[in-house]
Amino acid sequence: MNVIVETVVVLFQVAYLWLQAIVLAFIPASYRSKDVAGETVLVTGAGSGLGRLLSIRFARRGCRLILWDVNTQGMAETAEMLRKLGSVPIAYTVDLSKKEQIYDTAEQVKRDVGEVDILVNNAGIVTGKKFLECKDELIQKTMDVNIMAHFWTVKCFVPGMLERNHGHIVNIASAAGISGVNGLADYCASKFAAVGFDESLRMEFLSMEKTGVHTTVICPFYINTGMFEGVQTRFPLLLPILDPDYVADSIINGVLTNTHIVMLPPAIAFVAALKGIIPVKCGMILSNFFGVNHTMDNFKGRQKRD
Ligand SMILES: NC(=O)c1ccc[n+]([C@@H]2O[C@H](COP(=O)([O-])OP(=O)(O)OC[C@H]3O[C@@H](n4cnc5c(N)ncnc54)[C@H](O)[C@@H]3O)[C@@H](O)[C@H]2O)c1
Repeated sequence: MNVIVETVVVLFQVAYLWLQAIVLAFIPASYRSKDVAGETVLVTGAGSGLGRLLSIRFARRGCRLILWDVNTQGMAETAEMLRKLGSVPIAYTVDLSKKEQIYDTAEQVKRDVGEVDILVNNAGIVTGKKFLECKDELIQKTMDVNIMAHFWTVKCFVPGMLERNHGHIVNIASAAGISGVNGLADYCASKFAAVGFDESLRMEFLSMEKTGVHTTVICPFYINTGMFEGVQTRFPLLLPILDPDYVADSIINGVLTNTHIVMLPPAIAFVAALKGIIPVKCGMILSNFFGVNHTMDNFKGRQKRD
C-alpha cells in the first residue's frame, strides 16, 4: 500500500479506537464482559492476599481453579474457602523461584486437569531495602519470583492457548512497574520487566494473528494486603493505600473485558502519561512532592501470615 494511503488509514484507525475507548469507558464492565464459566484458571500465589481474592472471584464465576503457592497452609485455607462456594480446586505446592519445580508442576497439572485457559501470574515478594543493603540472594529471589517465574509459566501454558487460539494471561505487576521508587530498586526492576513482558507478548500474539489469546497487566499502587505493611502515602485522596477487594474486583473486570492494562487508582494512568512528556527533573520533583519517594520510609513488610 502507498505510504500516504497507509498513513491516512492508520490515522482513521487511531481516531476510531480513541472514540471507542471513550465510549466504552461509560459502559459498565458487566455489559461487555466475556463469560468464563467452565474455564480452567491457574492462580500463582493463591495462598493469601490478591491471589486468594482472585481465586474466590473466578470460582464464583464457575471457573475450575488450580492453585499454586509455596505456602501450603495458606493455599489449603484458600481451597477450603473455594470448596464452600461449591468449587473443586486443586492445589500444588510449588516454589516459583525454582524453574524446574515450575516445569515439573506444570506437567503434573496437564496430566491431572489438562490445559489452562486463564493464567494469573500473581505471586510476588519484596525485600523493601535500599539497593546497596539488599543481599544478592534476595535480589535474585525477587527477580526469580516476580518476573522469571512469569517467563516459565508462560512457556508451559501458552503454547496450548495459541494452539486453541483461546486464552488469557494476567500479569500482576505494580505502579512500581511504571515509576521508579526510592527503596524499591530491585522490586521496581522486576515490575518494569513484568510490564514490558506483557506488552511484548501482546505484540507477538498480534503478529501471529492469535486474536483469541489476551493479556492483561495490572499496575496497582500499594494495597492493604500486608505485603507492604508500614508504607505511607502523603495524599491519600489522590494516591490511597488500596482496598484489596477493590483491586481484585478491578482485576476481574479488566480480565472479563479483555482490557490490556489496569492502573489503580486512576491517577497512576495520569503519571504514566505525564512521564513521557515532562522533563525528567520535573518528574523527580513531583515524585518528592507527592511523597512517593518517602512511601517506604516506615516499611515493615509482612509481619505474619493473614
Ligand atoms: N500489596 C501491595 O501493595 C501490592 C501493590 C502492587 C502490586 N502488588 C503485587 O500483587 C501481587 C500479590 O501481592 P499480595 O499483596 O497479594 O501479597 P501476598 O504476600 O499477600 O501474596 C503473595 C503470595 O505469593 C506467594 N509466594 C511468594 N513467594 C513465592 C514463591 N517463591 N513460590 C510460590 N509462591 C510464592 C506467597 O506465599 C503469597 O501467598 C504480587 O505480585 C505483588 O508484587 C502488590
